[in-house]
Amino acid sequence: MKEAILQLKKEKNALIMAHYYQRDEIQEIADFIGDSLALARKAAETDADIIVMCGVHFMGETAKILCPGKKVLVPDMNAGCSLADSCDPEAFRQFIQQHPDHTVISYVNTSAAVKALTDIVVTSGNARKIVEQLPPHEKIIFGPDRNLGGYINSVLDRNMTLWPGACHVHDRFSLEKILDMKREHPGAKVLVHPECRRPLQLIADKVGSTAALLDFAREDEAKEYIVVTESGILREMRLKCPEKIFLPAPAEDAECQCNECDYMKLNTLSKVLECLRSESPEIHVDPEVAEKAIRPIERMLAMS
Ligand code: 13P
Ligand code: SF4
Repeated sequence: MKEAILQLKKEKNALIMAHYYQRDEIQEIADFIGDSLALARKAAETDADIIVMCGVHFMGETAKILCPGKKVLVPDMNAGCSLADSCDPEAFRQFIQQHPDHTVISYVNTSAAVKALTDIVVTSGNARKIVEQLPPHEKIIFGPDRNLGGYINSVLDRNMTLWPGACHVHDRFSLEKILDMKREHPGAKVLVHPECRRPLQLIADKVGSTAALLDFAREDEAKEYIVVTESGILREMRLKCPEKIFLPAPAEDAECQCNECDYMKLNTLSKVLECLRSESPEIHVDPEVAEKAIRPIERMLAMS
């Protein structure tokens, strides 16, 4: 299957991109692996005719908005995102109306329709840097992730008004279980994605996007890490730091030892192959929505 994918990819001048949370075998055949910021940047600059976005729907939409002339495929159209789903565009529009004079910042984990209502898009990799560039007294709405918004509020001493959304994977990590792991592995450092709840952010040695956690592990001297994000990132961490030990953190109600995003894991090698063969399913974004949504995405790329 891998050989067939690589052959088709060459014939069709396709670029296969994968998020760090994808299954290992998909990361293995990808031309480019990254966090959501890196995937958006790469989409903006590629000269491929087809982009196969192995991630979730909003990542495909962002690529399509940035490259309207290219064919953007996703291996499984059902690969959604609970965080994006926690922000209905009509309800968000009303929220914005209730807060006039506010700058609207949206996390990239949103639908194109929500981005079209937004002034600046951010990812977990650049949210801090972008909010820092806005004057301290500027009134801001931040949506939809309350944990990431709360983190930015605390580190920058801001008072952004938060939309109460969350990711079903990151919101499910348990402080108790991670403290238990710390007792068993006293030398281990704790790496936490900012979509996790505040108590986990407070005990972290590093809070950051998937790429930032990876960079931290590469540069840091510790030998062992407890990784509090989706477990797909462990593949790249182990590849980049083969001498170190990375321990996945469990969800609070899980019996197994890691926490996976069901949406990310919907993509499989056979679906990648089939989508390259049939050039579907393809992402389409309403041109009127795309015209509005591209501005906050380009603003993000310029500000980060
Ligand atoms: P990153 O910005 O770290 O890629 O996170 C994306 C995501 O979906 C996290 O759940
Ligand atoms: Fe969405 Fe959470 Fe999955 Fe990331 S891990 S894609 S935020 S549901």
